[in-house]
Amino acid sequence: MKREIKKAEGKLGILLPGMGAVATTLIAGVLASRKGLSKPIGSLTQMGTIRLGKRTDKRNPLIKDFVSLANLDDVVFGGWDLFTDNAYETANKAGVLEKSDIEPLKDELIKIKPMTAVYDHKYLVNLTPNNIKEGPTKMDLAQQLMADIENFKKENNCSRIVVLWCASTEVYSAQTDVHATVESLEEGLRNNDPNISPSMIYAYAAVKLGYPYINGAPNLSCDVPAMVELSHRTNTPIMGKDFKSGQTLMKTILAPGLRARLIGLDGWFSTNILGNRDGEVLDDPGSFKSKEVSKSGVLHDILEPELFPELYGNTYHKIRIEYYPPRGDFKESWDCLDIFGWMNYKMQIKINFSCRDSILAAPLALDLALFIDLAKRADMRGVQEWLSFYCKSPQTAQGLPAQNDVFKQLEKLENTLRYLKGEDLITHLGLDYYENELFA
Ligand SMILES: NC(=O)c1ccc[n+]([C@@H]2O[C@H](COP(=O)([O-])OP(=O)(O)OC[C@H]3O[C@@H](n4cnc5c(N)ncnc54)[C@H](O)[C@@H]3O)[C@@H](O)[C@H]2O)c1
Repeated sequence: MKREIKKAEGKLGILLPGMGAVATTLIAGVLASRKGLSKPIGSLTQMGTIRLGKRTDKRNPLIKDFVSLANLDDVVFGGWDLFTDNAYETANKAGVLEKSDIEPLKDELIKIKPMTAVYDHKYLVNLTPNNIKEGPTKMDLAQQLMADIENFKKENNCSRIVVLWCASTEVYSAQTDVHATVESLEEGLRNNDPNISPSMIYAYAAVKLGYPYINGAPNLSCDVPAMVELSHRTNTPIMGKDFKSGQTLMKTILAPGLRARLIGLDGWFSTNILGNRDGEVLDDPGSFKSKEVSKSGVLHDILEPELFPELYGNTYHKIRIEYYPPRGDFKESWDCLDIFGWMNYKMQIKINFSCRDSILAAPLALDLALFIDLAKRADMRGVQEWLSFYCKSPQTAQGLPAQNDVFKQLEKLENTLRYLKGEDLITHLGLDYYENELFA
């Protein structure tokens, strides 16, 4: 059955807590696309097509023509940061984009100035901010954020808002009683409960107002029962966590192949060097722990050692991230896989990926923002598992195992779009093409 989807009319405000490398690369890329200076490469919403019907039907529209998505010309960016630098200054400091790509966008980037941020030293120890909010309670800070959002919406004449966390990875924290229900969370906000992190305050502000919230980092943020409950109460879609951009993308491309061929895996060692501000933050063991947890789950979920104990029961998975300033945003990763095959013979696979972290993350951020806006217009609420394609550690319903295989994630996303539009889901069964011959 076809879902009622409101049209993407008017302007969409994309508000970014954290206006660093990923955020400014996203903004610059959208501005450059608008001006025809570059193509939005890597973005499914801008360049992807979707097959409809049978293979023989040859119906492959662009996704953006198939479902109503915000046009890039109608997107307005804003956000918050711990530092006062505008988007032009930050893009230059981040060292991702060449000066020659930033200069043509200067006039627009300069105007994007971060609002004062919600900060708590307990959750981020390696930076010294100069642009933060003051307030007696965390609830007061949440209300200041809500006022920021509503003012931004009004001043920029936006019809819709999404909030996308692109800020630094917070120190690892686990779920506690304060995260259990909306009531306990609100009580905690009023009582300055130390277990409520800044990202939860942003998430609360957005979801309370009914604006979709996405978490691009590995910290908990909206991945607690209270936030899920609130998202249902306010009819708001939410999703996280952690953009699946570099090494984990490679892992979730390769691991399903090994599993499909029933090739055994003794161990997978992953190491990275990274020299941007994200790397500096991750140099703190507390923040690294959040990232490690987010990166670790994927292999287990894909390989399912419970089903294949001889192949994956003893897989040793180790992940390292080293802060190495000379490398800047040009992250380099090495993966060494110790695999085994027929008659237990050992083999190795080595991957050396020299990537540009924010170049890989920016299109994911754009797609997440545009798709979660679609979800809101389609009256979808709560966790949007169909967007797990973009996440390193996808949020799911409580107790539901995540799907980390990137190909299955894409099928899930595409089938969700088909479902929303009342098209047949594609199962790849394929027998129908042979039916006449088989059953004649
Ligand atoms: N680059 C990638 O490929 C990638 C992949 C997956 C996840 N991520 C995550 O995305 C996030 C952004 O990465 P980045 O490379 O842009 O990092 P970055 O350090 O360049 O930018 C993060 C920005 O967030 C700001 N910030 C920190 N705490 C804040 C708060 N409480 N409120 C407002 N602003 C705050 C910082 O001042 C900084 O400017 C990180 O959490 C990173 O782990 C990045």
